[in-house]
Amino acid sequence: MQRIRLNINGVDRFIVTDPKAMLSDVLRNQLLLTGCKVCCDTGQCGTCTVIVDDKPIKSCLTPVSKIGPLAKITTIEGLGSGDDLHPLQVAWMAHGSAQCGVCTPGFLMSAKVLLDKNPSPTRDEVRTWFHRNRNLCRCTGYKPLTDAVMDAAAVLRGEKKKEDLLVQPAENGSILGSTYHRPSARAKVTGTWDFGADVALHMPPDTLRLALVQAKVSHANIKGIDTSEAEKMPGVVKIVTWHDIKGKNAITGLITFPTNKGDGWDRPILCKDKIFQFGDAIAIVCADTEAHARAAADKVKVDLEVLPAYMSGFAALAPDAMEIHPGVPNAYYEQGVVKGEDTKPLMEKAAYTVELETYCSRQPHLHLEPDCGEAFLDDQGVLTILSKSIGLHLHHAMICPGLGIEPEKLRIIQNGTGGTFGYKFSPTMEAILGAACLATGRPVSLIYDQYQNITYTGKRSPANITAKWGADKDGKLIALEYDWWLDHGPYSEFGDLVTLRQAQFMGAGYDIHNIRAKGFTVATNHAWGSAFRGYGSPQAFLNGEIAMDMLAEKMGIDPLELRMRNIYRPGATTPTGQVPEVFCLEGLLDMIKPYWEEAKVRCKKLSTDKIKRGVGLSLGIYGCGLDGPDSSNAAVELTPTGVTVMNAWQDHGQGSELSTLTIANEMLLPLKLKIEQIDLVMNDTNLPNSGPSGGSRSNVFVGNAIKVSCEMLLNAMRKPDGSYRTYKEMVAENIPLRYDGKWVAAACTDCTPDTAQGSPFPIYMYEVFMPEVEVDVETGKTTCVKFVTSVDVGTLINKATVDGQIYGGIAQGIGLALTEDFDDLEKHTSLRACGIPYPLDIPDDFDILYQETPRPLGPFGAAGCGEAPLTAVHPAILNAIYNAVGVRIFKIPALPEAVKAAMDAKNAKESVHA
Ligand code: FES
Repeated sequence: MQRIRLNINGVDRFIVTDPKAMLSDVLRNQLLLTGCKVCCDTGQCGTCTVIVDDKPIKSCLTPVSKIGPLAKITTIEGLGSGDDLHPLQVAWMAHGSAQCGVCTPGFLMSAKVLLDKNPSPTRDEVRTWFHRNRNLCRCTGYKPLTDAVMDAAAVLRGEKKKEDLLVQPAENGSILGSTYHRPSARAKVTGTWDFGADVALHMPPDTLRLALVQAKVSHANIKGIDTSEAEKMPGVVKIVTWHDIKGKNAITGLITFPTNKGDGWDRPILCKDKIFQFGDAIAIVCADTEAHARAAADKVKVDLEVLPAYMSGFAALAPDAMEIHPGVPNAYYEQGVVKGEDTKPLMEKAAYTVELETYCSRQPHLHLEPDCGEAFLDDQGVLTILSKSIGLHLHHAMICPGLGIEPEKLRIIQNGTGGTFGYKFSPTMEAILGAACLATGRPVSLIYDQYQNITYTGKRSPANITAKWGADKDGKLIALEYDWWLDHGPYSEFGDLVTLRQAQFMGAGYDIHNIRAKGFTVATNHAWGSAFRGYGSPQAFLNGEIAMDMLAEKMGIDPLELRMRNIYRPGATTPTGQVPEVFCLEGLLDMIKPYWEEAKVRCKKLSTDKIKRGVGLSLGIYGCGLDGPDSSNAAVELTPTGVTVMNAWQDHGQGSELSTLTIANEMLLPLKLKIEQIDLVMNDTNLPNSGPSGGSRSNVFVGNAIKVSCEMLLNAMRKPDGSYRTYKEMVAENIPLRYDGKWVAAACTDCTPDTAQGSPFPIYMYEVFMPEVEVDVETGKTTCVKFVTSVDVGTLINKATVDGQIYGGIAQGIGLALTEDFDDLEKHTSLRACGIPYPLDIPDDFDILYQETPRPLGPFGAAGCGEAPLTAVHPAILNAIYNAVGVRIFKIPALPEAVKAAMDAKNAKESVHA
């Protein structure tokens, strides 16, 4: 230990610390300057960037001993605060650049150094700077960040005014459709928005820090667990195993269909007899410090009988594969599709057919903030869990019986959440936190490192689809046949639902009257399948949108023209037989057509012998809702100072607080409130159940529930003459102040397991994707260099938010197509190794074309938004690769070696024929 002096934000601070300690640890853990975020701890993500003597420094890699006493350290807390924000912070707010916000302090510190050095950077210089400094953002697609830096630079040069960057409410008070900033933006740009790891530092002194004993193999029987040595390790208070859990010790997967051969109780909280996947939790060490807990976890001995691991659907479906859950077949759910006539005779007489097999990968979510949470028993003995949950009430139901407590004795609250993109639709550590807290009676906290975060959270379920598409001589699709399986990992939660999603989106967008298909959910020993943006649709569109290109080529017509001939028009039905709520695809294709025609010419012109350029097209659709008659609740209460809006619209960066504010404000315009008079109280199981934040459902469902609540309040406040009662008048007349609203998609019906026919969603989102790529013919490396998309998600509630969702979702689609994977447990263990795109991997030449077709059932005509941009970017990119170099890739990611191998095979074939 040493006493050292550090000059931080202009003030000398004296700290007693280990000189080998990293600056990030000293800033966060000792000085509680938690604006410095630590996400990867290996210098890959840049969230911990601070400025030391005018240089951006990765504080997670910099020992304090390397920093001299005269060095000047600037953290986000020193950039600007309160009403005196730096122009970069204001620009970040204005452009919606802080979505989840966990990357924000690091980007701002990095950008500050850039602008100090170069007051007039070009957009490319900004992007290159962030790329070289390894600043990662998983939410925004980077363009809004570059926009913000350019605006801040203009302010600093005196060309713009800081005050003008932020949009103000319109004269009537409305902010609907504007780029008004998020309520959380100020906290996020000042580093004061607390994420779970920050909350852990604010817990009381008797808080126990947890570490997991985890499986290092993927499939095994447990013969014994020996904690004796670990219990003697320093600081250990208790080691929790399955013995300590009073309930069923399982998380229920809430089986959707009775035909599911599993019972949904297949995921242990702590493993008792069996390991089902790598990373499975076997025991929890509770200790005084995290370091002590982790050291003791290494000393727990687990006696295992290792079993064959089935790491893919192919392996788990092999005839000799053992049942992963004894008594339940590995293919445990079967989904059929029966629409229209028998397809066999139709295929025989089809003028054109194409057959293809596609494989969509186990895409990792790559949210930057590692999973984390806390738990404590409140004064009434209620177990209170703080986590990144985006399904608070859902998770409450999923973990209560497993922990063995009554529902009223469990409360879950969402922490500030650094991105989930759906992985937190699954409970991850909630039950573990609860088990440790109940077993010890003390507050607890658990923070995964990035390795655990990647290897022990859910992933997109890979799917293999073999399909035959048939069209008549005019290019009209007449029949579709396909078989598929979906590798859902070992745990069945929502596995049947995501298998159904293939049926809902294979052929979506096109008027296909006749479909026959069969698919299975398959248990494997790879990562459990969890929700991921676009949930279930990227697997389907990968097959369908390549097929459309192949068919167009066979027919000798333009791919856009083939799509135009087949899209939904009045009289069409979806693959599930539902009548679409609007017909907007023709408009979207019309919008993009001039760009398409230009791009085809440009790609030819810009192609060289070394770099071939190509353009691709695809269409993507997604439904808003959880299938069938889904519903949401919200409430509003009149207060002495304004109104309080209450809901559990969990935010994972998508902007639920801004949508709540915008919708409530719009509804309450007659009251002439100021924005500041609308108080938001959100994200707690003690609040109205709004349902999970997934499936792009919330804007529609919670938005409508907010509308209903506000309407009820207005009705109660309205006087006979049309004016409104004040708070005092309401109290004086004894009129209730709180109104709980509910909205149900009453006209929706479930799809059946045998036919997949039904009307599952009240509203759909529609998008056309048009990327341009460059393929290096020597290496096969493909880069997406330009993107145009036409989008119809109904009315825009907040334009900056929707822009951010589109840019960010498409960036994830580019990653899905070209780089991202979680397959190799040895290799895919960091953000970078999993292929997360850095700034220069995503184009800045990026246009969004909006068509706003109001949705009859949407709040103010809005649909949802978040899933649409990650439905079908990847097939468009693969089609662009084909356009560039003439090779079809059917399996993603299209890594350079795969593209190169395909080009070599093509060249070899051509030279044989030559
Ligand atoms: Fe950048 Fe979420 S806003 S990671």
